Amino acid sequence: MKNSSAVDAYWMPFTGNRDYKKNPRMVVSADGHHYTSSDGRKLYDGFSGLWTSGLGHCHPKIVDAVQQQVAHLDLCLTFQFGNDRAFELAEKLTKFTPKGFGRCFFTNSGSESVDTALKIALAFQRLQGHENRTRLIGRHRGYHGVNFGGISVGGIPPNRKMFASNLINGVDHMSHTHNINEAGFSRGQPKWGGHLAEELDGLLVSDDQEGSIAAVIVEPVAGATGILPPPLGYLERLREICTKHGILLIFDEVITGFGRVGASFAAERFGVTPDIITCAKGLTNGVIPMGAVLVKDEIYDTFMSGPEHMPELFHGYTYSGHPVAAAAGIAALEVYEEEGSFQQSRELEEMFADEAHQFDDHPRVIDVRNFGLMAAIELEPRESAAGTRGLEVHKRLFWDENLVIRNTMDILQFCPFLNAKPHDIRSMFGAVKRVLDGLE
Ligand SMILES: Cc1ncc(COP(=O)(O)O)c(C=O)c1O
Repeated sequence: MKNSSAVDAYWMPFTGNRDYKKNPRMVVSADGHHYTSSDGRKLYDGFSGLWTSGLGHCHPKIVDAVQQQVAHLDLCLTFQFGNDRAFELAEKLTKFTPKGFGRCFFTNSGSESVDTALKIALAFQRLQGHENRTRLIGRHRGYHGVNFGGISVGGIPPNRKMFASNLINGVDHMSHTHNINEAGFSRGQPKWGGHLAEELDGLLVSDDQEGSIAAVIVEPVAGATGILPPPLGYLERLREICTKHGILLIFDEVITGFGRVGASFAAERFGVTPDIITCAKGLTNGVIPMGAVLVKDEIYDTFMSGPEHMPELFHGYTYSGHPVAAAAGIAALEVYEEEGSFQQSRELEEMFADEAHQFDDHPRVIDVRNFGLMAAIELEPRESAAGTRGLEVHKRLFWDENLVIRNTMDILQFCPFLNAKPHDIRSMFGAVKRVLDGLE
């Protein structure tokens, strides 16, 4: 397909289109832990899709559920009407959530989940009589998708730059928790950095804004900007401050949900319960796009007022609770239970961390960090050419080593399957070593 008009027609997301189209890295099929490339090679997927497919690709049970559903009920009206699969998935999903999260709102992506969660938080505060609580707090280096709410609370400069004057008002950012000097090469949660949660208290006091903050949103483990696990005590302290000041705490678990950190959600793993959880990706094992916003019962109950024939929340998507996506979700949740996937993930963690940290002393590496089945190897950037080293590794792994991983600038990211085989993880890092050893 190289150089064909099809390659030209597709404006690719988060991709250097001109560079990519010179020599496309294309896959045509997937099965289990492998892709097949357009030139017929079998590639190991070291990134589980895009943090999505922890159970492996084309899982037979999910494929079967989707095939049956699409032939049975392809779609139905979703407003003032419903399909049985969406209700079934909602009930099943609430069994995976922390206690007291009995309700969920369906979306089609992580970005939609985030914007939905922010709207629910703002509306909840208003319904509680706190009209002045309109401020939202995010974090530098946070990634919360690409819609206007998400990029406003998100903290990635290139994602915001072009839209700076159109971002939503009243957003502040706390510092991110990453510091190579203080906590470089941390294994698991860094010991340094818990104190940074106090910045939330600072935002309240210094600007005399107590009573104006509606919600704080954080990724429990920041993923997209290079795997930043929360320092010890950090999430606990955020929770305390939010509770004390009536601020809703939102965990964006689009990546960390469904076994990525060895539990249903990071909330469970860290023993810190937020008020709202966003998820997507692993909800359907990535097979059909779908997301969800999970809320504490108290939040849902607060909305259930006013005339009963009127919507309590003026928000929703044509495809909220799409029956085919819901069927994929039900099947995925069943497989997680049947295969004990979250436990599998937990058991793999240690050897995965050992493998990643073999690069701690590598001359091209300036940091290695990990949590659960997420790890990052950060390369020293080339002078005046930041990002080229990471992309070169990504390409060499694809062409020379039949391996797919992700790079964000010079940070190599790894996200193995929940049911990955230890020898595949060893081979993956073996390939990475060969490429790094040969790198200029
Ligand atoms: C934490 C987090 N939130 C939101 C999103 C956006 O999800 P989507 O790309 O499905 O819109 C992502 C995507 O990776 C994410 O990592």
